[in-house]
Amino acid sequence: MALRLRKLSYALGAEVCDIDLTQPLSEDCVGDIRRAFLEHNGLLLFRNQRIGPAQHIAFSRRFGELDRHESVPRDRHPEHAEILVVTNEPDADGEPSNSRYTGQLWHSDLGFTLRPALGSLLRAVAVPPVGGDTLFANMYAAYDALSAGMQSLISGLCGIHTQQRRHVSADWQAESSRLNPPVAHPLVRIHPETGRKALYVGEPVKRIEGLSDAESAPILEVLMAAAIRPQGGYRHQWQVNDLVFWDNRCTNHQALGDYDSAERRRMERTTLVGEPSGHLASGA
Ligand code: OGA
Ligand code: MN
Repeated sequence: MALRLRKLSYALGAEVCDIDLTQPLSEDCVGDIRRAFLEHNGLLLFRNQRIGPAQHIAFSRRFGELDRHESVPRDRHPEHAEILVVTNEPDADGEPSNSRYTGQLWHSDLGFTLRPALGSLLRAVAVPPVGGDTLFANMYAAYDALSAGMQSLISGLCGIHTQQRRHVSADWQAESSRLNPPVAHPLVRIHPETGRKALYVGEPVKRIEGLSDAESAPILEVLMAAAIRPQGGYRHQWQVNDLVFWDNRCTNHQALGDYDSAERRRMERTTLVGEPSGHLASGA
Protein backbone atom coordinates (compact mmCIF):
# COMPACT_ATOMS: atom_id res chain seq x y z
CA MET A 1 0.00 0.00 0.00
CA ALA A 2 1.36 3.43 -0.97
CA LEU A 3 2.14 5.84 1.84
CA ARG A 4 -0.24 8.71 2.42
CA LEU A 5 1.83 11.88 2.71
CA ARG A 6 0.93 15.43 3.68
CA LYS A 7 3.43 18.18 2.93
CA LEU A 8 4.45 20.20 6.00
CA SER A 9 5.94 23.24 4.27
CA TYR A 10 6.97 24.26 0.78
CA ALA A 11 10.68 23.95 1.57
CA LEU A 12 10.80 20.58 3.27
CA GLY A 13 8.99 17.92 5.18
CA ALA A 14 6.02 15.61 4.93
CA GLU A 15 3.85 13.84 7.44
CA VAL A 16 3.47 10.12 6.92
CA CYS A 17 -0.19 9.51 7.74
CA ASP A 18 -1.94 6.23 8.61
CA ILE A 19 1.10 4.36 9.83
CA ASP A 20 1.52 2.49 13.09
CA LEU A 21 5.11 1.97 14.13
CA THR A 22 4.11 -0.55 16.81
CA GLN A 23 3.29 -2.97 13.95
CA PRO A 24 5.87 -4.83 11.86
CA LEU A 25 6.71 -2.90 8.66
CA SER A 26 7.37 -4.69 5.37
CA GLU A 27 10.54 -4.09 3.35
CA ASP A 28 8.34 -2.40 0.74
CA CYS A 29 6.98 0.01 3.28
CA VAL A 30 10.48 0.84 4.56
CA GLY A 31 11.54 1.43 0.93
CA ASP A 32 8.61 3.81 0.44
CA ILE A 33 9.58 5.70 3.61
CA ARG A 34 13.17 5.95 2.41
CA ARG A 35 12.04 7.37 -0.96
CA ALA A 36 9.68 9.85 0.68
CA PHE A 37 12.50 10.94 2.99
CA LEU A 38 14.73 11.81 0.02
CA GLU A 39 11.92 13.32 -2.02
CA HIS A 40 10.68 15.64 0.74
CA ASN A 41 14.14 17.10 1.27
CA GLY A 42 14.98 15.05 4.31
CA LEU A 43 12.21 15.43 6.86
CA LEU A 44 9.36 13.10 7.78
CA LEU A 45 6.91 13.33 10.65
CA PHE A 46 5.16 10.35 12.23
CA ARG A 47 2.41 11.43 14.65
CA ASN A 48 0.73 9.62 17.55
CA GLN A 49 3.28 6.83 17.76
CA ARG A 50 2.96 5.04 21.09
CA ILE A 51 6.38 3.48 21.03
CA GLY A 52 9.05 3.12 23.69
CA PRO A 53 12.85 3.11 23.43
CA ALA A 54 13.09 -0.49 22.12
CA GLN A 55 10.64 0.13 19.25
CA HIS A 56 12.23 3.50 18.54
CA ILE A 57 15.60 1.76 18.17
CA ALA A 58 14.18 -1.11 16.08
CA PHE A 59 12.42 1.28 13.66
CA SER A 60 15.54 3.47 13.34
CA ARG A 61 17.69 0.41 12.53
CA ARG A 62 15.65 -0.22 9.40
CA PHE A 63 17.43 2.84 7.93
CA GLY A 64 21.02 2.01 8.84
CA GLU A 65 23.59 1.54 11.57
CA LEU A 66 22.94 3.39 14.83
CA ASP A 67 25.46 5.56 16.62
CA ARG A 68 26.23 4.64 20.24
CA HIS A 69 26.90 8.28 21.09
CA GLU A 70 30.52 7.85 22.16
CA SER A 71 31.08 11.53 21.35
CA VAL A 72 28.47 12.62 23.92
CA PRO A 73 28.53 9.78 26.49
CA ARG A 74 26.83 11.72 29.27
CA ASP A 75 23.71 12.32 27.23
CA ARG A 76 23.06 8.64 26.67
CA HIS A 77 20.01 6.89 27.98
CA PRO A 78 21.16 4.80 30.99
CA GLU A 79 19.86 1.56 29.47
CA HIS A 80 20.22 2.20 25.74
CA ALA A 81 23.45 3.63 24.31
CA GLU A 82 21.59 4.11 21.00
CA ILE A 83 19.35 6.73 22.62
CA LEU A 84 20.46 10.25 23.38
CA VAL A 85 18.32 12.14 25.87
CA VAL A 86 17.47 15.83 25.50
CA THR A 87 15.69 16.91 28.65
CA ASN A 88 15.29 19.64 31.22
CA GLU A 89 14.53 17.06 33.94
CA PRO A 90 17.17 17.43 36.68
CA ASP A 91 19.78 14.68 37.01
CA ALA A 92 19.36 11.96 39.68
CA ASP A 93 21.60 14.01 42.02
CA GLY A 94 19.36 17.06 41.57
CA GLU A 95 21.83 18.94 39.36
CA PRO A 96 20.41 20.72 36.29
CA SER A 97 20.48 18.53 33.20
CA ASN A 98 23.41 19.18 30.86
CA SER A 99 21.16 18.42 27.90
CA ARG A 100 18.56 21.08 28.65
CA TYR A 101 20.03 23.45 26.05
CA THR A 102 20.95 20.79 23.50
CA GLY A 103 20.45 21.94 19.96
CA GLN A 104 19.70 25.58 20.74
CA LEU A 105 21.75 26.83 17.79
CA TRP A 106 21.62 26.16 14.05
CA HIS A 107 23.43 22.89 13.45
CA SER A 108 23.51 19.47 11.84
CA ASP A 109 23.99 16.53 14.22
CA LEU A 110 27.49 15.23 15.00
CA GLY A 111 29.08 17.80 12.68
CA PHE A 112 31.81 18.08 15.31
CA THR A 113 32.94 14.50 14.56
CA LEU A 114 34.62 12.85 11.58
CA ARG A 115 31.46 10.83 11.01
CA PRO A 116 28.60 13.32 10.97
CA ALA A 117 25.16 11.81 11.38
CA LEU A 118 23.22 10.61 8.36
CA GLY A 119 19.89 11.05 10.08
CA SER A 120 18.28 11.60 13.45
CA LEU A 121 14.95 10.31 14.74
CA LEU A 122 13.68 12.47 17.59
CA ARG A 123 10.71 11.34 19.67
CA ALA A 124 8.72 13.67 21.89
CA VAL A 125 8.16 12.04 25.29
CA ALA A 126 7.04 15.15 27.20
CA VAL A 127 6.43 18.62 25.78
CA PRO A 128 5.54 21.93 27.40
CA PRO A 129 2.01 23.26 26.76
CA VAL A 130 3.39 26.12 24.70
CA GLY A 131 6.76 26.74 23.00
CA GLY A 132 9.75 24.45 22.66
CA ASP A 133 9.41 24.17 18.87
CA THR A 134 12.23 23.08 16.58
CA LEU A 135 13.16 24.89 13.36
CA PHE A 136 14.44 23.02 10.32
CA ALA A 137 16.12 24.41 7.21
CA ASN A 138 16.59 22.99 3.74
CA MET A 139 20.31 23.22 3.02
CA TYR A 140 19.94 22.33 -0.67
CA ALA A 141 17.82 25.48 -0.97
CA ALA A 142 20.45 27.42 0.98
CA TYR A 143 23.11 26.37 -1.51
CA ASP A 144 20.84 27.13 -4.47
CA ALA A 145 20.17 30.61 -3.07
CA LEU A 146 23.85 31.57 -3.43
CA SER A 147 25.14 33.30 -6.54
CA ALA A 148 27.20 31.24 -8.97
CA GLY A 149 30.18 33.36 -7.92
CA MET A 150 29.77 32.53 -4.23
CA GLN A 151 29.15 28.86 -5.06
CA SER A 152 32.45 28.71 -6.89
CA LEU A 153 34.29 30.72 -4.21
CA ILE A 154 33.37 28.21 -1.48
CA SER A 155 33.85 25.03 -3.50
CA GLY A 156 36.90 23.31 -2.11
CA LEU A 157 36.84 25.28 1.17
CA CYS A 158 36.29 23.64 4.55
CA GLY A 159 34.56 25.00 7.65
CA ILE A 160 35.98 24.27 11.10
CA HIS A 161 33.34 22.77 13.41
CA THR A 162 33.54 22.66 17.20
CA GLN A 163 31.32 21.07 19.84
CA GLN A 164 29.82 23.64 22.13
CA ARG A 165 26.81 24.01 24.36
CA ARG A 166 25.60 26.84 26.53
CA HIS A 167 25.48 26.58 30.34
CA VAL A 168 26.99 23.15 30.72
CA SER A 169 29.13 22.24 33.70
CA ALA A 170 32.87 22.88 33.35
CA ASP A 171 33.67 19.17 33.46
CA TRP A 172 31.08 18.46 30.74
CA GLN A 173 32.75 21.00 28.45
CA ALA A 174 36.25 19.75 29.34
CA GLU A 175 35.32 16.16 28.54
CA SER A 176 33.58 17.16 25.34
CA SER A 177 36.55 19.22 24.11
CA ARG A 178 38.86 16.28 24.84
CA LEU A 179 36.61 13.82 22.98
CA ASN A 180 35.84 16.17 20.13
CA PRO A 181 38.75 18.29 18.88
CA PRO A 182 37.87 20.75 16.07
CA VAL A 183 37.27 19.11 12.69
CA ALA A 184 37.03 20.52 9.17
CA HIS A 185 34.32 19.56 6.67
CA PRO A 186 33.69 20.84 3.14
CA LEU A 187 31.36 23.86 3.04
CA VAL A 188 29.54 22.21 0.17
CA ARG A 189 28.59 18.58 0.39
CA ILE A 190 27.18 16.29 -2.19
CA HIS A 191 24.35 14.22 -0.85
CA PRO A 192 25.39 10.61 -1.45
CA GLU A 193 21.88 9.46 -2.39
CA THR A 194 20.38 12.38 -4.30
CA GLY A 195 23.64 13.73 -5.79
CA ARG A 196 22.47 17.27 -4.95
CA LYS A 197 24.73 19.93 -3.43
CA ALA A 198 23.91 21.17 0.05
CA LEU A 199 25.49 23.95 2.05
CA TYR A 200 27.26 22.70 5.18
CA VAL A 201 27.51 25.55 7.67
CA GLY A 202 25.99 26.18 11.06
CA GLU A 203 26.67 28.17 14.19
CA PRO A 204 29.35 25.68 15.36
CA VAL A 205 31.40 26.64 12.27
CA LYS A 206 33.65 29.37 13.56
CA ARG A 207 36.21 29.77 10.81
CA ILE A 208 37.07 28.68 7.27
CA GLU A 209 40.19 26.56 7.09
CA GLY A 210 43.17 28.46 5.69
CA LEU A 211 41.52 31.85 6.22
CA SER A 212 41.88 34.20 9.19
CA ASP A 213 39.00 34.93 11.54
CA ALA A 214 38.57 38.35 9.92
CA GLU A 215 38.51 36.86 6.43
CA SER A 216 36.16 34.03 7.40
CA ALA A 217 33.59 36.10 9.27
CA PRO A 218 31.97 37.97 6.36
CA ILE A 219 31.80 34.83 4.21
CA LEU A 220 30.27 32.78 7.03
CA GLU A 221 27.80 35.59 7.64
CA VAL A 222 26.64 35.48 4.01
CA LEU A 223 26.37 31.68 4.09
CA MET A 224 24.43 31.67 7.36
CA ALA A 225 22.03 34.29 5.98
CA ALA A 226 21.30 31.92 3.08
CA ALA A 227 20.90 29.03 5.52
CA ILE A 228 18.29 30.69 7.74
CA ARG A 229 15.99 32.21 5.13
CA PRO A 230 12.46 31.67 6.48
CA GLN A 231 11.30 30.46 3.04
CA GLY A 232 13.78 27.60 3.34
CA GLY A 233 12.36 26.41 6.62
CA TYR A 234 9.81 24.41 8.52
CA ARG A 235 8.88 24.98 12.16
CA HIS A 236 7.79 21.92 14.06
CA GLN A 237 5.37 22.30 16.94
CA TRP A 238 5.74 19.14 18.98
CA GLN A 239 3.00 16.91 20.30
CA VAL A 240 3.71 14.01 22.64
CA ASN A 241 4.39 10.83 20.61
CA ASP A 242 5.64 12.69 17.55
CA LEU A 243 8.63 11.16 15.85
CA VAL A 244 10.55 13.39 13.43
CA PHE A 245 13.11 11.80 11.14
CA TRP A 246 15.50 14.27 9.49
CA ASP A 247 18.42 14.02 7.12
CA ASN A 248 21.47 15.78 8.56
CA ARG A 249 23.13 15.72 5.14
CA CYS A 250 20.76 18.28 3.66
CA THR A 251 19.05 19.99 6.61
CA ASN A 252 19.97 22.07 9.65
CA HIS A 253 17.89 22.44 12.77
CA GLN A 254 17.64 24.51 15.93
CA ALA A 255 15.72 23.98 19.17
CA LEU A 256 14.13 27.30 20.12
CA GLY A 257 14.06 26.66 23.87
CA ASP A 258 11.29 29.23 24.28
CA TYR A 259 9.26 27.59 26.99
CA ASP A 260 8.69 27.82 30.72
CA SER A 261 11.56 26.00 32.41
CA ALA A 262 9.16 24.79 35.11
CA GLU A 263 7.43 22.69 32.42
CA ARG A 264 8.86 19.28 31.54
CA ARG A 265 10.35 18.69 28.10
CA ARG A 266 11.88 15.32 27.27
CA MET A 267 12.99 14.16 23.85
CA GLU A 268 14.78 10.95 22.90
CA ARG A 269 16.91 10.62 19.77
CA THR A 270 18.47 7.83 17.80
CA THR A 271 21.20 8.77 15.35
CA LEU A 272 22.05 7.03 12.08
CA VAL A 273 25.77 6.81 11.43
CA GLY A 274 26.86 8.72 8.34
CA GLU A 275 29.80 8.41 6.01
CA PRO A 276 33.29 9.51 7.09
CA SER A 277 33.88 13.17 6.24
CA GLY A 278 36.54 15.81 6.75
CA HIS A 279 39.72 15.80 8.81
CA LEU A 280 41.07 17.05 12.11
CA ALA A 281 41.58 20.79 11.87
CA SER A 282 45.25 21.44 12.39
CA GLY A 283 46.17 24.52 14.39
CA ALA A 284 42.52 25.51 14.75
C1 OGA B 1 18.72 17.01 18.67
C2 OGA B 1 18.28 18.40 18.76
C3 OGA B 1 16.29 19.65 19.13
C4 OGA B 1 15.16 19.76 20.09
O1 OGA B 1 18.18 16.18 19.41
O2 OGA B 1 19.59 16.73 17.84
O3 OGA B 1 18.92 19.27 18.23
O4 OGA B 1 14.23 20.52 19.78
N1 OGA B 1 17.12 18.58 19.42
O5 OGA B 1 15.18 19.11 21.14
MN1 MN C 1 20.52 18.35 16.95
